[in-house]
Amino acid sequence: MDKGYVVSARTNLSRYKQLLLLTLTSLLCFWFVNAISKPHHPPSNHSSALLKRCQSLKQSPGPPVNFHRRRASDRFEPGTKPTLIKNATIWTGLNNGTQILRGDILLDKGIIMGVGHFGTASYGNELVVIDAGGRWVSPGIVDLHSHLGDDPSPELSGATDYYSDKGTVVPWMRSLDGLNTHDESYALSISGGVTTSLVLPGSADAIGGQAYVIKLRKTAERSPSSMLLEPPYQINSSNAWETTNPPRWRHMKHACGENPSRVYKATRMATIWAFRQGYNKAAQIMKQQDEYCGKVEAGETKDLGDFPEDLQWEALVDVLRNKVKVNVHCYEAVDLDGLVRLSNEFKFPIAAFHHASETYLTPELLKRAYGQPPAIALFATNARYKREAYRGSEFAPRILAENGFTVLMKSDHPVLDSRHLLYEAQQAHYYGLPENLALASVTSNSAEVMGMGHRIGYIRKGWDADLVIWDSHPLALGATPVQVFIDGIPQLDSPYVSTKPPLFHKTPKVPNFDKEAELTLAYDGLPPLRPIKEAEVVIFTNVSSVFVRSSTAVESIYSTTTSGGIVVAHNGQILCTGNTTCIQDAVRDANVKAVTVDLNGGSIEPALTSYGAPLGLEHINQEPSTNDGFMFEPLSQRIPKLLEGSIVRAVDGLLFDTRDALYAYRAGVTTGITAPNHYGFSFGLATAFSTGASHKLEAGAVIQEVTALHTAIGFDDTPSVSTQIATLRKLLLSPPEGPAGVWFKRVSEGSLTLVVETHSADIIATVIALKAEIEAAKKSKIRLTISGANEAHLLAEYLGRAEVGVLIFPRPFPTSWDRRRIAPGPPLSPNAVQQLIAHNVTVGLMIAEIWDARNLPFDLAWTSLDVNVTLGREEALALGSVNVEKLLGVEVEAQYADLVVRESNGESSFEGKVVGILSPRRGVVELF
Ligand SMILES: *[C@@H]1O[C@H](CO)[C@@H](O)[C@H](O)[C@H]1NC(C)=O
Ligand SMILES: *[C@@H]1O[C@H](CO)[C@@H](O)[C@H](O)[C@H]1NC(C)=O
Ligand SMILES: *[C@@H]1O[C@H](CO)[C@@H](O)[C@H](O)[C@H]1NC(C)=O
Ligand SMILES: *[C@@H]1O[C@H](CO)[C@@H](O)[C@H](O)[C@H]1NC(C)=O
Ligand SMILES: *[C@@H]1O[C@H](CO)[C@@H](O)[C@H](O)[C@H]1NC(C)=O
Ligand SMILES: *[C@@H]1O[C@H](CO)[C@@H](O)[C@H](O)[C@H]1NC(C)=O
Repeated sequence: MDKGYVVSARTNLSRYKQLLLLTLTSLLCFWFVNAISKPHHPPSNHSSALLKRCQSLKQSPGPPVNFHRRRASDRFEPGTKPTLIKNATIWTGLNNGTQILRGDILLDKGIIMGVGHFGTASYGNELVVIDAGGRWVSPGIVDLHSHLGDDPSPELSGATDYYSDKGTVVPWMRSLDGLNTHDESYALSISGGVTTSLVLPGSADAIGGQAYVIKLRKTAERSPSSMLLEPPYQINSSNAWETTNPPRWRHMKHACGENPSRVYKATRMATIWAFRQGYNKAAQIMKQQDEYCGKVEAGETKDLGDFPEDLQWEALVDVLRNKVKVNVHCYEAVDLDGLVRLSNEFKFPIAAFHHASETYLTPELLKRAYGQPPAIALFATNARYKREAYRGSEFAPRILAENGFTVLMKSDHPVLDSRHLLYEAQQAHYYGLPENLALASVTSNSAEVMGMGHRIGYIRKGWDADLVIWDSHPLALGATPVQVFIDGIPQLDSPYVSTKPPLFHKTPKVPNFDKEAELTLAYDGLPPLRPIKEAEVVIFTNVSSVFVRSSTAVESIYSTTTSGGIVVAHNGQILCTGNTTCIQDAVRDANVKAVTVDLNGGSIEPALTSYGAPLGLEHINQEPSTNDGFMFEPLSQRIPKLLEGSIVRAVDGLLFDTRDALYAYRAGVTTGITAPNHYGFSFGLATAFSTGASHKLEAGAVIQEVTALHTAIGFDDTPSVSTQIATLRKLLLSPPEGPAGVWFKRVSEGSLTLVVETHSADIIATVIALKAEIEAAKKSKIRLTISGANEAHLLAEYLGRAEVGVLIFPRPFPTSWDRRRIAPGPPLSPNAVQQLIAHNVTVGLMIAEIWDARNLPFDLAWTSLDVNVTLGREEALALGSVNVEKLLGVEVEAQYADLVVRESNGESSFEGKVVGILSPRRGVVELF
């Protein structure tokens, strides 16, 4: 790909020179045209204005030529104090993301006034001095794909406003017009270091409308318009002939494939035609304008009529004039190809393809896009949620970067919480994207692709004072801001900071995934995921620690600080740990040839258990034909007579060999606990299964047919919450005759766990009271677990007293009203786990969607860092294994639980790669 695309500061500067040259040249031409035409047709004042307008059509967008001579930012809030950040380790974003400086940063008037070493005497004692103590400082995080404000949280029907349903080609719609200023996510995302977002319309339309760049901080004016960064001079069009400055960049959303086709019940063929029709209309207007301006420039202004324009189409005409950054939601080869053809047919460049799950498979196609290869904006591991995303790969960032593309990570907030956009970059780095590019993927490169690289995305003198002081290396797992500045204004009032171990201040070392990346390409994005071999006897060398499960906890059984630790496994069980004596015994006894695996200081640990998503019940979330489907809802739907009194068991719907289960297995998450799929109030029996099994009848595939009775109580369901509670009370106090009644009876007697999925503290309180009521009536002790439980920390004391455990999300988000009172965790508050365990509440971690099952090891490590008490490896592992199983009624004898073999990356803040699974249940050692 052409080298100039990752724009370095150098090429940036020379761009301004070019711009200057261009402006001078055009001024000269203007003068020349004027000079030669003057004698014959002295232009009227009317035509001189027209001439100016015609000239402006050719102007390229960008900052004013003297932009970097500014003394204050246009966004400066009077009263903001100058700030000196001393002794920082500064990732500047320059030199292709490789420049790291040690020194100070001076912020004043909304601008970075100095980086490195300089005098500050002139500021006197007005200057606020912050000692960074050597901490990492990066530019603020820049998100190229967000719906902040347009799809605000908590979600309320009156505020969601991110697309138009008035047609599939609506370039005249503007995300600004739906931008709500009360989205709770502004503050949450800032607490993750996000300072700027491009707010795109949704993907329901082919051409969904104009997008706007905002800074996330509060403004004195409290208006959407005051949040905008460099809006076009006139919001209603970019015609900038009123000023001598070049126009600002504009932004537009396009979408292809399933979303726009689905919403309009159209097809891909119809969608692409809609694009062509729209562009054809814009091209016709542009042609009329150019002909008109040809006449103006020739001085033939007599009877010329009005300038040809159309408010509905002017933004699309600007796309054709290369004044708009076009961001395209597009997944598959068929759609990418369609858009690349469109860009060549109508001659407009594409700024970025988003989601873009097959771009890593089609680099040559992308290089054919008009004008320049597009940047690619990705999720790290969020994939397979729909058919188009089925071939999404964690190796896409590195493969695309190897092909010379600019890779960006994006949130699509609230699809992913943009607060954790940096986590996407961390994962991309873990799977092979080089460090410099991983950091640039959410800072300097996203700023460049937005057309804002001249003022954000770098720590550089003259750039906006948007930066983050981190508590660790930004690519270390769990990196959290200590302070965030936007326009020089500190955003965190009294940040809650946990102390990170020294290891976390260095660039994390990551595993080598070259072979996996190669296989992914060789298999068209669907590489085989099963273990490559099974072995009877395996000798693991250079083992540093071994943890195993007891019935209620995780304990360490071996640990050494010297190299040479040995573990021998036979038929899936640990035979011995220690030294070479152990090998001799083992091999003699087993009388077979042993396989040797060097763990390089790695460990053997209990395998993990995933809960919360329908893992094992679906292949592709949005494709009903690939899934078990949903239960009837007993209170709002008519249950067929044939079904009355029966109860649904998830075990009957289990699907094996789903890619998400296998990805989980490879990550050491070998057990899935899944309840029947439901929308609202309902009840059914959950099951526990092996994520690595290939079918239900295989030995060890079903770990426990029935684990617990699950129900969900929530607002926004029909009928009311109180009706749902009344139903539950009735079922527990007087269980009906028939199969369902038997299970409710067992719950009320205390021999089966009841899991209530709910979030609101009010509902949780009601359920705790109901528990006491049933216990009093039945003289029993009910086993109750709350899952979801976003607001559980508010009742930590009462949950502890009632011995009710909770399963919660590691990173809560205020999706809806009933779950808005979250404990956001550092840097805004202590995290929920800490608050709950302080009251002896048993806590387990859960996930929301099946693709996330593989990330449980990261969730555990991150959560244990955020808990500001010493949470040992044992306790951290328990949050994702024994605790989850205990809370969900799984009874596995400790000696039959799977173990995970993890190689070490050396001293690193990230987990090592899983190289094998010991399965005593199935009597095998599997190696990847
Ligand atoms: C036309 O422009 C010239 C110079 O810009 C100005 O002096 C003159 O008054 C204008 N005439 C009219 C009719 O506005
Ligand atoms: C930027 O860094 C990447 C990865 O480290 C490297 O492959 C690429 O060649 C570099 N680009 C330039 C222009 O130096
Ligand atoms: C900067 O911080 C580091 C880490 O705390 C410390 O070792 C060093 O002495 C500090 N340097 C200066 C110049 O204060
Ligand atoms: C974290 O815990 C330590 C030790 O208990 C305490 O000194 C510190 O203040 C805590 N941090 C915060 C931000 O509360
Ligand atoms: C090896 O382990 C055995 C059994 O644990 C022990 O008796 C022996 O002393 C150890 N040998 C060495 C060289 O450490
Ligand atoms: C938690 O349990 C421990 C040990 O059983 C006990 O000492 C402590 O008081 C309990 N804490 C609370 C808040 O109940």
